[in-house]
Amino acid sequence: MSKKYKIGVLPGDGVGPEIIREGLKVLDAASKKTGVKYELVNYDFGGDRYLKTGEVLPDSAITEFRKLDAIYLGAVGHPDVKAGILEKELLLRIRFELEQYINLRPVILYPGVWTPVKDKGPAEIDFVVIRENTEGIYCGIGGVFKKGTSDEIATQLDVNTYKGVERCIRYAFEYAKKRNKKKTLTLVDKANVLTYSGDLWQRVFYKVGEKYPDIKKDHAYVDATCMWFVKNPEWFDVLVTNNIFGDIITDLGAMVQGGLGVAAGGNINPEGVSMFEPIHGSAPKYTGKNVINPIATIAAGAMMMEILGEDSTSQLIEGAIKKLLSSGKIKSMSAGKMGYSTSEVGDLIAKEI
Ligand code: IPM
Ligand code: MN
Repeated sequence: MSKKYKIGVLPGDGVGPEIIREGLKVLDAASKKTGVKYELVNYDFGGDRYLKTGEVLPDSAITEFRKLDAIYLGAVGHPDVKAGILEKELLLRIRFELEQYINLRPVILYPGVWTPVKDKGPAEIDFVVIRENTEGIYCGIGGVFKKGTSDEIATQLDVNTYKGVERCIRYAFEYAKKRNKKKTLTLVDKANVLTYSGDLWQRVFYKVGEKYPDIKKDHAYVDATCMWFVKNPEWFDVLVTNNIFGDIITDLGAMVQGGLGVAAGGNINPEGVSMFEPIHGSAPKYTGKNVINPIATIAAGAMMMEILGEDSTSQLIEGAIKKLLSSGKIKSMSAGKMGYSTSEVGDLIAKEI
């Protein structure tokens, strides 16, 4: 008997429910074809629930999440909730507690998608950023002293553990090997200034790299990386970097690949429960308007299938996205400018399948 996956669904805030609905529509179409079986477990965590109950995420939810096979997340962020609450207590808490230590963010320009980068196309824009996802300045260690005075001091500690760095870099080398394209892994850091953490990352990078003689080891400073994403994106294959640099460069990456409307990401615990989401946020101003682009979420669904080992379902979804985009039907990747509504784009991809 084939396995029946248990997938937790967290639509979240803003446009989250609209895009997740399309993601599930496409997943349903694809799995009917390939025979993948799953049950969905719905969770209403997010800003609205927090405003009603004062609770972001009960401990019991984390316990339940551990029993799932994967989590499919829409978006987190509510205009009436102070910035930082939902981000830290919902999104980051899940990433940390489920040890989703990899944030996998492909920057791939689909054929038929416009990029603002001049003279570059799908052949040049095809790389993957592997972002460390459970450490760095995201740990929330630090404090404030003499707040509100002119003597105020605020600190935010950048945590880099050998264990955390090593497992991330090892994953990145394995990924570059499996991807089997340019066979290059680029370490992105700021080791010319952050000499302690930079040194740790570099030593581990070259040490772990000894086991991967076929993978070319490259290095780039994070500021220069931003320049090259725009100037020479074809230089990159797989990149590995810390949490904050990965956060920043993947928003730039999303633009390079045609916009946040198509950028998907996975929060991965290779030994446990992973969570898949579009890179974009909850876009409150588009909520309920059926105009947001669901492709990033649909692509996150494909990534979820890939990580679960369901390659044919993943490829079916990816293929349908590519076919729709190369048909030229979708005029723009931006909300309200696609020429179709959110649900129509979902329908078109489901139909393609
Ligand atoms: C992302 C987001 C999050 C992050 C925020 C919402 C906490 O920007 O997934 O990139 O910084 O990781
Ligand atoms: Mn971000």
